[in-house]
Order: sequence, then C-alpha cells, then structure tokens
Amino acid sequence: LRRAQAELVQAGKLSALGKMSAGISHELNQPLMAIRQFTSNAAAFLHRDAPDRAAENLARIDEMAHRMSRIIRNLRAFVRNENEPMGRVDIRAVVDAALDMMTERLRKDEITVDWTRPPQPVFVQGGEVRLGQVLVNLMTNAADAMRESPERRIAITVEHADGAPVRLSLRDTGPGIDEPDKIFDPFYTTKDVGGEGMGLGLSISYGLVQSFGGRITGSNTGSGAEFTIELDQWNDARESAA
Ligand SMILES: Nc1ncnc2c1ncn2[C@@H]1O[C@H](COP(=O)(O)OP(=O)(O)O)[C@@H](O)[C@H]1O
Ligand SMILES: [Mg+2]
Repeated sequence: LRRAQAELVQAGKLSALGKMSAGISHELNQPLMAIRQFTSNAAAFLHRDAPDRAAENLARIDEMAHRMSRIIRNLRAFVRNENEPMGRVDIRAVVDAALDMMTERLRKDEITVDWTRPPQPVFVQGGEVRLGQVLVNLMTNAADAMRESPERRIAITVEHADGAPVRLSLRDTGPGIDEPDKIFDPFYTTKDVGGEGMGLGLSISYGLVQSFGGRITGSNTGSGAEFTIELDQWNDARESAA
C-alpha cells in the first residue's frame, strides 16, 4: 500500500509537472534571452574599448545563469525519487543541522531562533537528509514571510509523549498564511516567480514527510504561521520484527 501511495504521489507530481512545462520553458527562456542580449552588449563594449561596461554585462550574465540553475535545482528536487534509506533519526540532530545550514540567512535577516532542545535524544523514523531538507524549507519560508515584520522570531519545539507520534513545531512571527488550503499544492506561491519562490517547497516537503509515514500541517496562530510535522517514534521492537 505504501508503495502504491508513493507511486501515486510520484504520478501526481509528474502530471503537475507536465501541466507546468509550458510555464517552465517560459521561466528558462526569459533569462536565456537576457543572456543573449547581455552577451552582445559585452562584445560591443569591448570593441569600443569600454571594459568596465563590458564587465557590468558579464556580471548580469552570471546573475541570469544563477537564476537558471536555481530553477533547475528546484525542479530536480521535485521530481527526484529519493532513495535514502529510512532509519532511526534523532530529531534534535536534524534541527541542529538545519539551523547550521540556515545560519547565514538567519543572521542576515536578523532572525532570532528559540530552539527548545530536549535534553535526551528523540528518535523518529525517517530519512535524515530528507527531513533536514523539509526543515530548511520551513525555515526559509518563515524567513521569507518575516521580511517586513518588526519582530522576527522562529520558535522550534518538540513534543513527545509515550505511544504518541513525535510533534515538531516551527512557529514564526510573520503575517501568517494567506490561503492555508492551498499551500501544499505544487506551484502554489505568493512570491515573485523567477525569484526564490516556485511554489514547490511545501509540496516536496509534504511528499517527503508522507514517505516517512508521517504528516505535515500548516496553520495560523494569530501572531504568525505554525507548521507541525508528526512522525512515528522509533520503535526497536517493531523495526526488528519487520
Ligand atoms: N511561514 C509562512 N508564513 C506565511 N506564508 C507561508 C509560510 N510558509 C509558506 N507560506 C505560503 O505558502 C506558499 C508556498 O510555499 P512553498 O511551497 O514553500 O513555495 P515558495 O516558498 O516557493 O512560495 C508561499 O508562497 C506562502 O504564500
Ligand atoms: Mg518555500
């Protein structure tokens, strides 16, 4: 059943991708046309012995190339069939690693993180790398959302009671979610297309958490957005029986 579900998720992603391919060609075509223009400008400035102006055009070409690779990277993450093995993962270590990866961004945007780190390991079932990717997605979204907020804070907590799923929550102090029903749809975004946002982060995250047998939800708290990931506790007995 799980396999069938995974295939459905995959099929859904592919059909969504098919529908969007026209849009994607357009996305890639725009910077490509710009690159051709900047290239001919640069050549013209070199002929006129104006290397500074030529260099400006080369810098724009570099920018456009980065934009194109960002678009392609997003798409690859979306269609990739992950084959990282599932295993016992300490959720604290995943949060630590994601925070490390986000250090630069959090510092630049002056975002404070309140990470209520449990004193003991909290073991869940999942893929460490994929779970880290989900957290980076959530933190990036929180940072994006708080760009205009006077208070910029991310609170991270872990709840774990015996027998219940582990709940990892991220709360931010941004404006909250506009349309909570749509945020997990592929290509739903309220950000400028062509910038960082392509609307794939949460739908990828949804698929990843689902592949661990868990779930992810997003809602508004009244003072920002809150995302919660629920994952089964690691169970030695069950895993060795399986
Ligand atoms: N922390 C948040 N606060 C407010 N809105 C959010 C938050 N996280 C996600 N969203 C909304 O969900 C949309 C989809 O997010 P996502 O799938 O990551 O795509 P992207 O970040 O590329 O827009 C965002 O464009 C935004 O409108
Ligand atoms: Mg995102």
